[in-house]
Formats: sequence, structure tokens, C-alpha cells
Amino acid sequence: MPSKVEIDRHLNILLEYQHPSGGFPASPTFPPYRYCWFRDGSFTAHALELYGKHEAAHRFHQWCVDTILRHAHLLESTRDTILRGDLLKPEECFPCRFSLDGQPLQDGWGNHQLDGLGTWLWAVSDHLERSPCTPPAEWQHARALTASFLQALWRFPCYDCWEEHPHDLHTYSLAAAYGGLQAHGRTQKDPASTAAAGEIHSYVLKHGVVNGRLAKRFGSEEIDASLLGAALPFGLLDPASVIMTRTLQTIEDQLTSPSGGVHRYQADTYYGGGEWILLTAWKGWLHARRGELDQALQALAWVQGSVDANGYLPEQTSRHLLAPDFLPRWEQQWGSSASPLLWSHSMALILKYNLLRVQEDTGRSWSNG
Ligand code: BGC
Repeated sequence: MPSKVEIDRHLNILLEYQHPSGGFPASPTFPPYRYCWFRDGSFTAHALELYGKHEAAHRFHQWCVDTILRHAHLLESTRDTILRGDLLKPEECFPCRFSLDGQPLQDGWGNHQLDGLGTWLWAVSDHLERSPCTPPAEWQHARALTASFLQALWRFPCYDCWEEHPHDLHTYSLAAAYGGLQAHGRTQKDPASTAAAGEIHSYVLKHGVVNGRLAKRFGSEEIDASLLGAALPFGLLDPASVIMTRTLQTIEDQLTSPSGGVHRYQADTYYGGGEWILLTAWKGWLHARRGELDQALQALAWVQGSVDANGYLPEQTSRHLLAPDFLPRWEQQWGSSASPLLWSHSMALILKYNLLRVQEDTGRSWSNG
């Protein structure tokens, strides 16, 4: 089972790299990732929250509130442009990532990504439920703006969580929008958010299911490991439901390497298409929730086996590559794969937390796997 020493090491890495502004760099040492993404940061804040680091989580959410309110005009221009059917210009688009002091970057990044804000709306609602306090009025304002942005735009294409395919509708992005709106609707008693979440749920079941399991994007049969998120944390599907069971099985069959590491999707060429730490932990989290403890422990052992001599977890490993010819060109462009990747450490912590809860609930103890 996860030891306290291992848990503290992951926690210390997250805490050490939190910027004084409250933002988290996706990776502090990998230049293209020295920015704060709503997606990565929200999972990091959630992991800290689970281990009682409420103040650090709170500071991240304050960073999000400040950033959203400072750039609310970009939420408006993104929404209005898309609703008019016009092409979104980079300077009009609300970014998926900001500098650590909350400034947008004009560098041509694929910015319009709904899942990041959906994840934040879910994470901030969860934070306020776990650490009840009366948040300042500005928090309510930022949450309401985010909810209404998601309500207006979920039916329109955006970049997916891997920052690709801007012309498609993505099941994971919809699941994240669902998770955010559902949590907001429930905690804020906001019927418009609850209604939009209900519509997203029906829409995904109608268009996002192929062969009895979820598909990466509408109109395609491709599988993608991010679909794990439809169950956890976003709750679009029950972890034990038939569709989720088939989705998990397809991820096992098509995206899990013989060593147990999980790839993003079969056509992945980024850094040669390696096994992602965070996805392997995510799969373990779902197994733990489904009561499949051996598989959850195997995922944990795989993740722990990927920790380097500095205690860092990278974004991906190059042990089993789907497209090895592509690795050198990425290494020439940006150097080795990002490490530490804070999202990898966060998912490792979330998996460990869930395994500890199962242990408490069942009274079962395990040797360190
Ligand atoms: C991934 C994103 C992630 C970003 C920062 C990108 O390569 O596709 O999902 O948010 O890195 O970690």
C-alpha cells in the first residue's frame, strides 16, 4: 500500500512548485509547460484537498477566480464569436492556460478547450463542500460566469484535452462540462446548470456511444484513455455501468501496454506515443472504485515504478512507444519529456487516497505492491 513517505514526497513536490500567485505550473522545468492550465491545476488542487492541504487548494481557486474575472471579456468574446458562427481570433479567445501571474499568452496555442473550465467548476464546488466556508462574492461571480459560458458553448466544437481536433465534439470535454455544471447546479441550486448537465448526459448517450462503449469523439469509433474521466471524477456514468465497463475493457485491450502503462490513443505520436503516468493512475482509480483491487494495486505499482531518482514523475515514459520514430524529433524540439509533471503526481496521490479509503472501508490490508 502507499506509504506515508511516498505520499509526502508527492505532496511536497506539488507544494514546492505552487507559485506565490496560487497557480501551478504544469511542469516547472519544461519550458513549454511553465504555465498554469485550468485542467492540470484543478486536478492538482483536488489532490491537495484530499490530503487536507485546503489552504494550498484555496489559493489555487483564488488564482482561478482572479484570472477568470480579470479576463471575463475573453469569455464574452469567445462566446459571442462562436454563437455568431464567426472564426475565433486568437486575441478574442479565452485561453486554456495563463502565465503564473494570470496573464494570457499570444503564442498561437490551441486555446479554446471547454474541459479545463468544466474541471475547475467541478473542483471548486468540491473544494467548498470539503472545506466549507463562505467564499467572497467574487468567487460566486467567477463560478456563475464559468457556468453560463459552459451552458452556452457545450454543443460547439473545441480543442480536446490533448489540445487537438478543434473541429470536433469530444466525449471527455462534454463529460468535464457535465461534471462542472452538475456540481454547480447542485451546490448553487442553479436550475439552468442542472438542466444543461441533463442535456449533455442525454446527448453523450445518443451520439458518443459506439459498440456499447464511449468513443473519443462524435462520429468516430476511436477509443481514448481520457474517457475514464466520464466516470471519475465527473460522474456522467456510474463506474460500474455497462457502458463504462465496456469502455474500461476497450482501454485495457487497445491502450494498455504489456507492462500495464496506459497510452492516450492509438494514433498518438507526441514523444513517440508513450505510456502516460496520469492515465495509468486514473485507470487504477477507476479499478479501486469498482472494487477491483488487484488491478488498482498493479496500477499503483506501475506508477511507483516510474518515479525517478529525484522522486519525480514524468508526463510519459518511453518504455513502450506506439510511434518510436517520432520521439527524436520531439526531443530535438523540446528536450526530454516533461518531468516532474504535476498532474502525474496529482493522479498518483488521488489513486493512493482512493486505495486507502477502500482499505478503511473493507478492513483489508495489503503488502506494498
Ligand atoms: C497535454 C494537456 C496538458 C498539457 C500540460 C499537453 O501535452 O496534451 O492535456 O494539459 O500538456 O500538462
